[in-house]
Amino acid sequence: LAAMAVASLAAIPSATQSSFADLRETALATFEALPSATPTVSNNPITPDKIALGKALFFDPRISSSGVLSCNSCHNLATGGDDNRETSIGHGWQEGARNAPTVLNSVFNSAQFWDGRAEDLKAQAKGPIQAAAEMANTPAQVIATLKSMPQYVEWFNEAFSDEADSVTFEKLAKAIEAFEATLVTPAPFDAFLAGDDAAMTSEQKQGLALFMDKGCSSCHAGVNLGGRGYDPFGVVEKPSADVLPKNDKGRFLVTNKAEDSYVFRAAPLRNVALTAPYFHSGKIWDLKQAVAIMGRTQLGEELTEEEVGSIVAFLDSLTGKLPELAYPTLPPETATTPRPVS
Ligand code: HEM
Ligand code: HEM
Repeated sequence: LAAMAVASLAAIPSATQSSFADLRETALATFEALPSATPTVSNNPITPDKIALGKALFFDPRISSSGVLSCNSCHNLATGGDDNRETSIGHGWQEGARNAPTVLNSVFNSAQFWDGRAEDLKAQAKGPIQAAAEMANTPAQVIATLKSMPQYVEWFNEAFSDEADSVTFEKLAKAIEAFEATLVTPAPFDAFLAGDDAAMTSEQKQGLALFMDKGCSSCHAGVNLGGRGYDPFGVVEKPSADVLPKNDKGRFLVTNKAEDSYVFRAAPLRNVALTAPYFHSGKIWDLKQAVAIMGRTQLGEELTEEEVGSIVAFLDSLTGKLPELAYPTLPPETATTPRPVS
């Protein structure tokens, strides 16, 4: 947990040009600005046709067995890419076990889910469609649904023109991944990293210095300020049992190794101001409280109210701008489209 030394800035009320340059330099050694072009993903060349198809699928509730739930139900792009609930409501109004993370910038996470059990977005997308408590569907039923609508068949053929039998579950997942790769949200923090001193307020810059000084950035680093490594939730002090429920052992469920008990992916922090409630349990609604808990559990630090305030101000500078998105018009059902179940 070696904290980076950014000694001076937090203490100087009116920082000078050169201290901004120092802060930027230190920050650039730890973080990375979002790329300006759509990122590439493994084994799935991203094309405009694939993005358009993936967008339709993301918004289409008919890939759930009830015909009611789309990806956007729980990852609402109008509300930060999540559902702002402690845990999600899925098929038959069942409650899931974990808080829904945002899909925004998720392409930059090295693995998906709180425990990293899906290696990438195409592997991830197959999960919720089949999960009994989410969309409760089967691959065969989804494909039958899509194939019953000629417009979808045409879109799949265009998006995967070089391949035979283009309407498959694998390709649905690839198209959704391509769309998700476009959900990148440049923020004031990126403008600051790129050289614009005025992009962040002085409190936000102090918060950035503190975030590095205190050691938050030892886990929340890189382009997504997290999403790349795994750490125990409770390195120094165990969180209370409501915040860290006993029955969810996190990464242990993936690796079966004792040392991975209660280990979770260090949460990516872009747009965190939009995605309350916090933690995998979704028990904490106030970002200030989440920051104070992190100080205590991960660093053994009792952060002052002022420190928490500056760090939260910094986290606000991670709220970015979504690309313009028009709500898609989806292909109409036909007489052969499988009927929704209750
Ligand atoms: C996790 C996308 C449908 C609830 C995720 C993640 C992505 C994603 C990318 C991982 C984000 C990260 O780890 O940072 C999708 C797509 C869907 C879909 C493409 C449609 C095919 C749903 C639905 C629900 C839901 C319908 C709610 C009923 C959740 C929850 C998690 C999650 C609770 C976290 C689960 C865990 O970590 O164990 N989703 N999602 N998702 N999603 Fe979805
Ligand atoms: C989660 C901030 C230090 C590892 C979070 C969340 C925030 C946050 C706001 C919740 C994100 C969400 O629910 O979407 C901070 C701040 C820190 C800090 C401000 C410094 C004061 C650390 C350190 C580590 C760490 C040092 C690693 C040792 C994690 C992990 C999670 C997390 C594993 C996910 C916890 C879970 O819900 O299971 N952090 N963090 N954090 N952070 Fe930190």
